[in-house]
Amino acid sequence: MNVLTGRRILVGVSGGIAAYKTPELVRELRRAGAEVQVVMTRSAAQFVTATSLQAVSGNPVRDTLWDPAAEAQMGHIELARWADLILIAPATADRLARLAHGFADDLLGAICLASTAPIALAPAMNHVMWQAPATRRNLELLAADGVHLIGPEVGDQACGETGPGRMSEPADLARAVTELLAQGLEGTARAPVHSIGQNQPLLGHHVVITAGPTREAIDPVRFISNHSSGKQGYALAAAALAAGARVTLISGPVAESVPVGVTLVAVESARDMHAAALTAAPGSDLFIAVAAVADYRPSTVAEQKIKKTDRKESGLSLELVENPDIVAAVAALPDAPVVVGFAAETHDALAHARGKLSRKGLDAIVVNDVSRQDIGFGTDENAATLIWADGEITLPKQSKADLSRAILDTLIELFMPRFVRQLANTNPDNAAK
Ligand code: PMT
Repeated sequence: MNVLTGRRILVGVSGGIAAYKTPELVRELRRAGAEVQVVMTRSAAQFVTATSLQAVSGNPVRDTLWDPAAEAQMGHIELARWADLILIAPATADRLARLAHGFADDLLGAICLASTAPIALAPAMNHVMWQAPATRRNLELLAADGVHLIGPEVGDQACGETGPGRMSEPADLARAVTELLAQGLEGTARAPVHSIGQNQPLLGHHVVITAGPTREAIDPVRFISNHSSGKQGYALAAAALAAGARVTLISGPVAESVPVGVTLVAVESARDMHAAALTAAPGSDLFIAVAAVADYRPSTVAEQKIKKTDRKESGLSLELVENPDIVAAVAALPDAPVVVGFAAETHDALAHARGKLSRKGLDAIVVNDVSRQDIGFGTDENAATLIWADGEITLPKQSKADLSRAILDTLIELFMPRFVRQLANTNPDNAAK
């Protein structure tokens, strides 16, 4: 028997162009055996008719709190109690904002507030709206309330642009609802469960990434640095953003463009990066140190340009002092996030990386061979081994974007329970549950 057989799904339709797909969604749910009631908002009626939704659901469609006849048959409180699960598809940016703040000034809002059933949202909106800071904030509130997210997908949009914000297809939504009900969450109080959407497993989580080189000043015109281009760190930031995370990217000087939606903290020296990391990391879920940090800096910085005539017979000597170890300092924080380092090695790579994993107190480390010309520093491709306490995975040569997705997928698989716990810890309401 299908998980959906006999399950009562309340489908909420808000006012976006994707509402034209809702009749097909209702058909999918009913084909799988679910009972469906539809509640639509006033603006949804601009995109789909109540008549078609009534025909496919087999039930009258409700669209207002102020219909005495309908309320007499099944009032909004009864509808709220009736549902095993509420699925809002499409969920517009406005609907997310209303839900996040508990508005109950229309039927759909009142039902969501009055129900203890799990709520799943299928967002659909323009990609800039999806990535807007206000939408991100609302999504974090909703994720902390245990609301589930299905999608959205990346692709062509009704506005003619391309990006994340397309509503998932009806068949995928029906599959995700089945998965959700199969987890046995119906009828339970909402827990701080992460998104079940395929694309947004990091929704509600904060990822901090360091990237690029640092520059250690010798005098006003010279510095010590390395060949890091920032490509690997920026690709990881884009991958974390696409996975739904709020991303802070602490970057040394590079020529890469910052992905829209990522918060950049631009730094120069290792000490700047250390200070920025210790500001951003507390309360975050995942810290990934991709930066090639200079281990040493000149003990003094000459105030004026050093002249050739300043050197002694034997040449010019620079005295170097050690820089703070940024990733080790983050790993030593009380309530540290999951901390992942990178190891740039030229020989005995795995052994050296394992040493760094334990010396720096890391949860995992990504080791890459920087003696090769085709991967590592400055290249568009990379290959790596991801190592953690009791396992490792070899990730073959691929674009830095693909490698970043593969690294994140593995980290999510290994550490998601810790991310969820951290989300609960930072939300006193959830911690009490
Ligand atoms: O930027 P690209 O051109 O794309 O190149 C990518 C890369 C080769 C720089 C990247 O994949 C990589 O290997 N980054 C780590 C570089 C490095 O400094 O490795 P390491 O083995 O010296 O350091 C180990 C770890 O400690 C790293 O996570 C590093 O960020 C961190 N560290 C090191 C020194 C220090 N003072 N503080 C630190 O946090």
